[in-house]
Amino acid sequence: MNFLQKWPEPVVPVQHLSDSGIRVIPGRYVKKPSERPSSVDSAEPDINIPVIDLQELYSDDHLLRRRTASLIDSACREWGFFQVVNHGVSHELMARTREAWREFFHLPMAEKKKYANSPSTYEGYGSRLGVEKGISLDWNDYFFLHYLPVAIRDRNKWPALPVSCRELIEKYSEEVVNLGEKLMKILSVNLGLRENYLSEAFGGDDNGACLRVNYYPKCPQPDLTLGISSHSDPGGMTLLNPDENVSGLQVRHGAIWLTVNPLPNAFIINIGDQLEVVSNGKYKSVEHRVIVNSEKERVSLAFFYNPRGEMPIKPAEELVSEEHPALYPCMTFDEYRLYFRTRGPSGKIQVESLKSHP
Ligand code: OGA
Ligand code: NI
Repeated sequence: MNFLQKWPEPVVPVQHLSDSGIRVIPGRYVKKPSERPSSVDSAEPDINIPVIDLQELYSDDHLLRRRTASLIDSACREWGFFQVVNHGVSHELMARTREAWREFFHLPMAEKKKYANSPSTYEGYGSRLGVEKGISLDWNDYFFLHYLPVAIRDRNKWPALPVSCRELIEKYSEEVVNLGEKLMKILSVNLGLRENYLSEAFGGDDNGACLRVNYYPKCPQPDLTLGISSHSDPGGMTLLNPDENVSGLQVRHGAIWLTVNPLPNAFIINIGDQLEVVSNGKYKSVEHRVIVNSEKERVSLAFFYNPRGEMPIKPAEELVSEEHPALYPCMTFDEYRLYFRTRGPSGKIQVESLKSHP
């Protein structure tokens, strides 16, 4: 995995470009016309990803629980994306953790650079996805850290400032993992598997979980670039705590891009490539991207519930038959994510290419 210890060229934080007051963004951030946000037409403003109230999942009544589970099943099949409210994670903790991260990104550059990351693990403060020299860049700085498995959790690699940051990360991650586990059980049953199937397939108590905090500075030419180019998430499931005040996430729906309007205190949940693989394509990881704007910065916390790196991931045998042959080959998550880490966001190319060569 450690094939590259260093970035191939100096990494410039996007925040630095934004703060420098430039009016014209460097060419490396300018997307091809077909990829620019101006190609968006919100022709169908009334449709959007489903919103699901999880309150009934906590009820003793089996029928009420089933009703919510079936809404989740439809959302996974039809959208691959949904928002959840009454999800059990403390709203105050969601907001405090997000604001602590905002403070981190407002610290002097020298403080943030102490955590500068390398392409061998991606852990720390960075501005680049993909190690190939000369690749197109996105208008985004980020901080990436591991929460699970416990063996690779290292609090010393997390920001020491603001002083509340490490404790908040721990509390927040614990609650988000609980929500992730709950959803994994529901997805397992929805797929006709036993309740613990997905969590065991991902490594049981040793599953992976990491946090990617995205910081999208103001951009003088938002129509020419993207905060994150189109991609599907390589891992299992993503639980996104988006900026309450600024939208930016867009989800592909057929030929159009829909902008998600984040509801207060909601998480935006989406299916990643590994769940597409285990479900043998019943659930699809859906392409999404982020647009930026010239008025407001945006902070989002993407929590990835993943398989442990060494876990071989393949379609569940229960979902494979003569009629429905395995669509994807077996591969560990470490092998799988190497592609993303090398090439950066590239739509759904990777999972689709597996499919054509099972
Ligand atoms: C991601 C992602 C969306 C957002 O980090 O993979 O898609 O709204 N983030 O920041
Ligand atoms: Ni994503």
